[in-house]
Amino acid sequence: MKAVEISQPGAPEVLKLVERPMPEAGPGEVLIKVAAAGVNRPDVFQRKGAYPPPPGASDLPGLEVAGEIVSGDAAAGGFKVGDKVCALLAGGGYAEYCVAPVEQCLPVPAGLSDIEAAGLPETYFTVWSNVFDRGRLSQGESLLVHGGASGIGTTAVQLATAMGNTVYFTAGSDDRVSAVEALGADRGINYRAQDFVEEIKSLTEGRGVDVILDMVAGDYIGRNIKCLADDGRIVIIALLGGAKGEVDASQIMRRRLSITGSTLRPRPVAFKAEIAKKLREHVWPLLEAGKIKPIIHATFPLEEAWKAHAMMEAGDNIGKIILVP
Ligand SMILES: NC(=O)c1ccc[n+]([C@@H]2O[C@H](COP(=O)([O-])OP(=O)(O)OC[C@H]3O[C@@H](n4cnc5c(N)ncnc54)[C@H](OP(=O)(O)O)[C@@H]3O)[C@@H](O)[C@H]2O)c1
Repeated sequence: MKAVEISQPGAPEVLKLVERPMPEAGPGEVLIKVAAAGVNRPDVFQRKGAYPPPPGASDLPGLEVAGEIVSGDAAAGGFKVGDKVCALLAGGGYAEYCVAPVEQCLPVPAGLSDIEAAGLPETYFTVWSNVFDRGRLSQGESLLVHGGASGIGTTAVQLATAMGNTVYFTAGSDDRVSAVEALGADRGINYRAQDFVEEIKSLTEGRGVDVILDMVAGDYIGRNIKCLADDGRIVIIALLGGAKGEVDASQIMRRRLSITGSTLRPRPVAFKAEIAKKLREHVWPLLEAGKIKPIIHATFPLEEAWKAHAMMEAGDNIGKIILVP
């Protein structure tokens, strides 16, 4: 089969189209003929040598695909050969075929194309697990999403809006703010032109927000604390602004704040299977009713994966970038 490998750590051009043997599905796994594969920021970190695949995972990049089950243990997940699924992977999506644990597969939602479905797993598993499970965002609460225009951000904004929460977000330009506000968010903040702490305080009449989904960290950690409501929760999922920041512990103590975080990729299949069940129950009906929709920024043929990475690193994407074998 054709696949895109990371020939050495480095710039986008190190992504090379190669011939690889077809992967084989083991117990509890299915072989998928890939129709489309999502590109995610962690793939960029992997390409640079900063995010190695977990033990046992494919060395090929690619954390999510949509396609057709062609063989394997489909029945273990309630599927059959020929079914169209989208799947969360620990690696190997940049290829014509890939193997996925069947419990990490979900049906392609009715009404969605393969390209749209390929953009679902990585961001929906991440957002559900961090915003609703770890962050415990509940009815009537408010959410601030940093990086609102990213793949993760557009998913968090849409999902929390559809769940009836008040949603604020930050993005790096007025155009990006407008594009994400159009997805239903209550208010976007251009963090290059405005101080998000002051904006959130003013939007919430001094109360602050209940949950913050943060992909920046660094000096955002201290600033997030300042615009968190009493009993508020910060969930850190990336360190785009650096790992270290200043924490005022007295605020955590007096206002009962929580700072948590997680990484999805190294978690066991059983953990991801639980998220898949919740997505099927709570989120797939919203997708099938057209209430939320993955935002696709661009598609590239598989052999142009390097162009997809260059686009992601330029930071112009609003939503997802997808590869098509
Ligand atoms: N922990 C997990 O389990 C997990 C899972 C998946 C992804 N992630 C992480 O989540 C992040 C988003 O992933 P993605 O695939 O959605 O990536 P993406 O589409 O490339 O988005 C990254 C976003 O971060 C914003 N950004 C970059 N540097 C920033 C900075 N210094 N300050 C503020 N905002 C900044 C950019 O928005 P603006 O230009 O508008 O600022 C951009 O939209 C990545 O860092 C990824 O590694 C974590």
